[in-house]
Amino acid sequence: MRVGLVGCGRIAHEAHVPAYTAAGITVAAVCDLIPDRAASAARATGAAVATTAQELAQRDDVDVIDVATPPSGRPDLLRELYRTGKPILSQKPLAYDLPTATALVQEAEDLGVALAVNHNARWAPAHCAIYRQMIDGALGQVYAVQHHNRFNEDVDTWYTRHPDYLFLDHGIHYVDLARVLTGRTPTAVAAVAGTRPGQRPAGPVIYSVNLRYADDEAPHVVLTFVNTAPAPAGFDFRLIVDGVDATAQATLFAADLLPADGSPPRTLDVLGEWTPDAFSGPLLSLTRHLTTGDPLPHSGRDHLASLAVAVAAAQSAKQAGAWTAVDHPPTEVTGSAHLAAYLP
Ligand SMILES: NC(=O)c1ccc[n+]([C@@H]2O[C@H](COP(=O)([O-])OP(=O)(O)OC[C@H]3O[C@@H](n4cnc5c(N)ncnc54)[C@H](O)[C@@H]3O)[C@@H](O)[C@H]2O)c1
Repeated sequence: MRVGLVGCGRIAHEAHVPAYTAAGITVAAVCDLIPDRAASAARATGAAVATTAQELAQRDDVDVIDVATPPSGRPDLLRELYRTGKPILSQKPLAYDLPTATALVQEAEDLGVALAVNHNARWAPAHCAIYRQMIDGALGQVYAVQHHNRFNEDVDTWYTRHPDYLFLDHGIHYVDLARVLTGRTPTAVAAVAGTRPGQRPAGPVIYSVNLRYADDEAPHVVLTFVNTAPAPAGFDFRLIVDGVDATAQATLFAADLLPADGSPPRTLDVLGEWTPDAFSGPLLSLTRHLTTGDPLPHSGRDHLASLAVAVAAAQSAKQAGAWTAVDHPPTEVTGSAHLAAYLP
């Protein structure tokens, strides 16, 4: 499968291009509204430069279209691209609001266009190390999931100008990860959010989120994010999954298993790094779906559930943490078997 890359900005250069290069995926054509950016991506990949997304999509050597543009222009862009019928991997979120994203998914389905969304955190190698333990039953019944993140995006740029960017743009990765780990979509969200004095982003840069589920067996899930940590030395990323038989925990780079029987902690094999491996995963999974008919775990339709949770969290934060219903039916409880879809 040869890729046409639309949008050659930050994430394309930092993650998509290195990921596809490392995985041996051919990038046949690139384009960007800013010609220098397209030229730079073309130099890095050996791809041809197309003048527009439409021209790129119509090329015979482009089999799948990778969209790495900002969400605001995405509806018009995707509708143009749908006309070619070619499969699309789009960066998240599909749109900032649920009705627009739902319409985009419905239109793709009606036209028979395969549409996937780049939920790369699902493929992070340290997370995959935890999935392996869950699939093997090493954790037993999971009763708590914690995600804790300390980073700094205290900048004034297009994404931080959206008042809900913390939930809809960045934090959507972690509500999505919670859906994958629990095998469930929550029915309600309670979120409180905060700001830093003098911050540049338009909306909150800090959150605590709790998720509520339809069934009593669901784990307790809490997500915290301080996206204005003052010093890089204090950046921290932790995923902790507690089961009755063991705790599994991951950072960006490593994962451990802490057995409940008192036996020594075990360092888990982490096969790769977030960049490039988490970024090749979504594209390779889409190509597998297209070539073998395997399910598409990160379909546009599936993305709507994660977007609904993120939207509910943003609404809850505006109401001082009031429990807010997720505008999406609770999905079936899927257990751990589905996690195999993310393993290399
Ligand atoms: N999955 C992740 O981990 C992750 C991380 C960062 C950003 N993102 C997402 O990736 C997307 C892009 O973010 P970014 O930080 O790279 O933005 P960016 O502004 O750095 O780059 C976007 C590029 O798209 C180009 N562009 C916009 N419309 C276009 C069009 N119609 N045709 C061709 N080029 C067009 C712009 O000129 C720009 O160069 C966003 O949806 C963002 O949320 C995802």
